[in-house]
Amino acid sequence: MDITNLIEKAIEAKENAYVPYSNFRVGAALLTKSGKIYTGCNIENVSYGATNCAERTAVFKAVSEGEKEFQAIAINGDNGDYLPPCGICRQVLSEFADDSLKVILANSAEDYKVISLGELLPGAFSSKNLNCVTT
Ligand code: THU
Repeated sequence: MDITNLIEKAIEAKENAYVPYSNFRVGAALLTKSGKIYTGCNIENVSYGATNCAERTAVFKAVSEGEKEFQAIAINGDNGDYLPPCGICRQVLSEFADDSLKVILANSAEDYKVISLGELLPGAFSSKNLNCVTT
Protein backbone atom coordinates (compact mmCIF):
# COMPACT_ATOMS: atom_id res chain seq x y z
CA MET A 1 0.00 0.00 0.00
CA ASP A 2 1.32 3.45 -0.98
CA ILE A 3 0.56 5.41 2.19
CA THR A 4 2.28 8.55 0.90
CA ASN A 5 0.07 8.66 -2.18
CA LEU A 6 -3.08 8.05 -0.12
CA ILE A 7 -2.20 10.89 2.26
CA GLU A 8 -1.44 13.24 -0.63
CA LYS A 9 -4.87 12.46 -2.10
CA ALA A 10 -6.53 13.25 1.25
CA ILE A 11 -4.70 16.57 1.48
CA GLU A 12 -5.72 17.43 -2.11
CA ALA A 13 -9.36 16.52 -1.39
CA LYS A 14 -9.41 19.05 1.43
CA GLU A 15 -9.19 21.81 -1.20
CA ASN A 16 -12.83 21.19 -2.15
CA ALA A 17 -14.17 21.34 1.40
CA TYR A 18 -17.32 23.47 1.67
CA VAL A 19 -16.99 24.96 5.14
CA PRO A 20 -18.62 28.42 5.40
CA TYR A 21 -19.71 27.78 9.02
CA SER A 22 -16.73 26.15 10.71
CA ASN A 23 -13.97 27.19 8.33
CA PHE A 24 -12.47 23.82 9.23
CA ARG A 25 -11.48 21.75 6.22
CA VAL A 26 -11.13 17.98 6.23
CA GLY A 27 -10.03 15.66 3.41
CA ALA A 28 -10.13 11.88 3.21
CA ALA A 29 -8.89 9.25 0.78
CA LEU A 30 -10.30 5.74 0.92
CA LEU A 31 -8.42 2.81 -0.58
CA THR A 32 -10.49 -0.14 -1.81
CA LYS A 33 -9.26 -3.72 -1.63
CA SER A 34 -9.16 -3.61 -5.45
CA GLY A 35 -6.69 -0.69 -5.31
CA LYS A 36 -8.95 2.23 -6.26
CA ILE A 37 -8.97 5.49 -4.32
CA TYR A 38 -12.10 7.51 -3.55
CA THR A 39 -11.64 10.93 -2.03
CA GLY A 40 -13.98 13.09 0.03
CA CYS A 41 -14.21 16.44 1.76
CA ASN A 42 -16.57 17.84 4.36
CA ILE A 43 -19.67 19.55 2.99
CA GLU A 44 -21.48 21.78 5.46
CA ASN A 45 -25.05 22.99 5.52
CA VAL A 46 -26.81 25.97 7.07
CA SER A 47 -28.88 23.37 8.90
CA TYR A 48 -25.73 22.18 10.68
CA GLY A 49 -26.92 18.61 11.25
CA ALA A 50 -27.10 18.08 7.49
CA THR A 51 -23.32 18.44 7.25
CA ASN A 52 -21.44 15.50 5.77
CA CYS A 53 -17.95 14.67 7.01
CA ALA A 54 -15.07 14.05 4.61
CA GLU A 55 -14.81 10.37 5.56
CA ARG A 56 -18.48 9.67 4.86
CA THR A 57 -18.33 11.57 1.58
CA ALA A 58 -15.53 9.23 0.49
CA VAL A 59 -17.38 6.10 1.67
CA PHE A 60 -20.63 7.12 -0.02
CA LYS A 61 -18.87 7.94 -3.28
CA ALA A 62 -17.23 4.51 -3.28
CA VAL A 63 -20.35 2.56 -2.34
CA SER A 64 -22.43 4.44 -4.90
CA GLU A 65 -19.98 3.21 -7.53
CA GLY A 66 -20.19 -0.40 -6.42
CA GLU A 67 -17.12 -0.58 -4.16
CA LYS A 68 -17.76 -1.99 -0.71
CA GLU A 69 -14.45 -3.48 0.40
CA PHE A 70 -11.83 -1.22 1.88
CA GLN A 71 -8.31 -1.57 3.21
CA ALA A 72 -7.41 1.91 4.43
CA ILE A 73 -8.53 5.51 4.80
CA ALA A 74 -6.28 8.54 5.19
CA ILE A 75 -7.62 11.67 6.90
CA ASN A 76 -6.17 15.16 7.01
CA GLY A 77 -7.72 18.16 8.74
CA ASP A 78 -6.98 21.81 9.31
CA ASN A 79 -6.35 21.35 13.03
CA GLY A 80 -2.62 20.81 12.63
CA ASP A 81 -2.76 17.60 14.63
CA TYR A 82 -3.85 14.01 13.97
CA LEU A 83 -7.58 14.27 13.26
CA PRO A 84 -9.59 11.27 14.43
CA PRO A 85 -12.85 10.43 12.62
CA CYS A 86 -16.05 11.37 14.44
CA GLY A 87 -18.32 8.71 15.93
CA ILE A 88 -20.79 8.68 13.05
CA CYS A 89 -17.96 8.18 10.54
CA ARG A 90 -16.53 5.33 12.63
CA GLN A 91 -19.93 3.65 12.57
CA VAL A 92 -20.30 4.16 8.80
CA LEU A 93 -16.81 2.75 8.20
CA SER A 94 -17.68 -0.28 10.35
CA GLU A 95 -20.63 -1.05 8.06
CA PHE A 96 -18.20 -1.85 5.25
CA ALA A 97 -14.91 -2.69 6.93
CA ASP A 98 -13.78 -4.97 9.69
CA ASP A 99 -11.63 -4.12 12.70
CA SER A 100 -8.46 -4.40 10.63
CA LEU A 101 -9.21 -1.34 8.44
CA LYS A 102 -6.18 0.94 8.65
CA VAL A 103 -7.10 4.50 9.60
CA ILE A 104 -4.24 6.84 8.77
CA LEU A 105 -4.34 10.09 10.72
CA ALA A 106 -2.08 12.36 8.71
CA ASN A 107 -0.58 15.74 9.39
CA SER A 108 1.51 15.36 6.24
CA ALA A 109 2.91 12.60 4.04
CA GLU A 110 5.83 12.35 6.47
CA ASP A 111 3.98 12.73 9.74
CA TYR A 112 1.14 10.28 10.32
CA LYS A 113 -0.21 7.72 12.75
CA VAL A 114 -1.87 4.43 11.76
CA ILE A 115 -4.62 3.06 13.98
CA SER A 116 -7.13 0.30 13.31
CA LEU A 117 -10.88 0.75 13.12
CA GLY A 118 -11.16 -1.87 15.88
CA GLU A 119 -9.14 0.38 18.17
CA LEU A 120 -11.25 3.40 17.27
CA LEU A 121 -14.61 1.66 17.65
CA PRO A 122 -14.40 -1.39 19.91
CA GLY A 123 -17.63 -3.33 20.33
CA ALA A 124 -19.32 -1.65 17.37
CA PHE A 125 -23.05 -2.03 16.89
CA SER A 126 -23.35 -4.38 13.92
CA SER A 127 -25.93 -6.40 12.00
CA LYS A 128 -25.29 -9.24 14.45
CA ASN A 129 -26.97 -7.12 17.12
CA LEU A 130 -30.16 -6.71 15.10
CA ASN A 131 -31.70 -10.05 16.05
CA CYS A 132 -34.91 -9.28 17.88
CA VAL A 133 -35.70 -11.17 21.05
CA THR A 134 -39.46 -11.48 21.42
CA THR A 135 -41.29 -12.90 24.39
N1 THU B 1 -15.49 16.82 10.26
C1 THU B 1 -15.12 15.89 9.32
O1 THU B 1 -15.21 16.13 8.11
N2 THU B 1 -14.64 14.71 9.75
C2 THU B 1 -14.50 14.36 11.08
O2 THU B 1 -14.23 13.21 11.38
C3 THU B 1 -14.66 15.39 12.10
C4 THU B 1 -15.45 16.57 11.68
C5 THU B 1 -16.00 18.11 9.79
C6 THU B 1 -17.48 18.33 10.03
C7 THU B 1 -17.56 19.85 10.04
O3 THU B 1 -17.68 20.29 8.69
C8 THU B 1 -16.21 20.29 10.57
O4 THU B 1 -15.35 19.17 10.46
C9 THU B 1 -16.24 20.76 12.00
O5 THU B 1 -16.84 19.82 12.82
